Amino acid sequence: MDYILAPSILSADFLTLKDQIDQVEKAGAKYLHFDVMDGMFVRNISFGIPVLKCLKGNTGMVLDVHLMIMEPSRYFEKFKDAGAEILTIHYEATRTVKEDLLRIKELGMIPSLTISPDTDAAVVFPYLEYVNQILIMTVQPGEGAQSYIDKCTDKIKAVREEITKRGLNVNVEVDGGINEKTILTAKEAGANVFVMGSSIFHGNPYENALKYKGMLGIQ
Ligand code: DX5
Ligand code: ZN
Repeated sequence: MDYILAPSILSADFLTLKDQIDQVEKAGAKYLHFDVMDGMFVRNISFGIPVLKCLKGNTGMVLDVHLMIMEPSRYFEKFKDAGAEILTIHYEATRTVKEDLLRIKELGMIPSLTISPDTDAAVVFPYLEYVNQILIMTVQPGEGAQSYIDKCTDKIKAVREEITKRGLNVNVEVDGGINEKTILTAKEAGANVFVMGSSIFHGNPYENALKYKGMLGIQ
């Protein structure tokens, strides 16, 4: 299985954003996680299309965009144009999950589906054929630097087991409270893509990314 670090710029210093993302790329991170919040699906507002456009073409990392917005399909074309490569939508934010995932693919992006901590893991099972990634939220979406919710470990296991049982090739990403205490729990449960905000960008991003790469056994 490929293990991938996905630093989340939600915790980066935006005055030195280019330097910060260069550091994590140099350390070997393969995805750059980009959290979009609309003040409706989640209480907070983060950043959006103009910032993503700045990143497009300025990093070799895959732009992994996590939409915490209601009715995300309203913005699929705009995110595609701005450089999104993986596009994650929340199961809870749309009534047209399958159509949305198919549309993301049709637009040339990689479809990904996520569930919040209180949503049952089994709700994603009917959609596994339409995605390349399932994101299991391990904190309530909406802000960085929260603590990992332990009950989510069983959800990671359940989703990984179902993917294996059906012989599918789907990444399992985890997001929220991933740090040196929780990363191996998530890995052992079956996660292979690790979103990390505060534990990478608070302190020295290069050194932190190297440390977590080492913990995951990434060469
Ligand atoms: C939270 C976001 C996360 C956030 C994680 O809603 O989806 O991507 O950046 O932050 P940490 O790693 O600090 O928990
Ligand atoms: Zn996220």
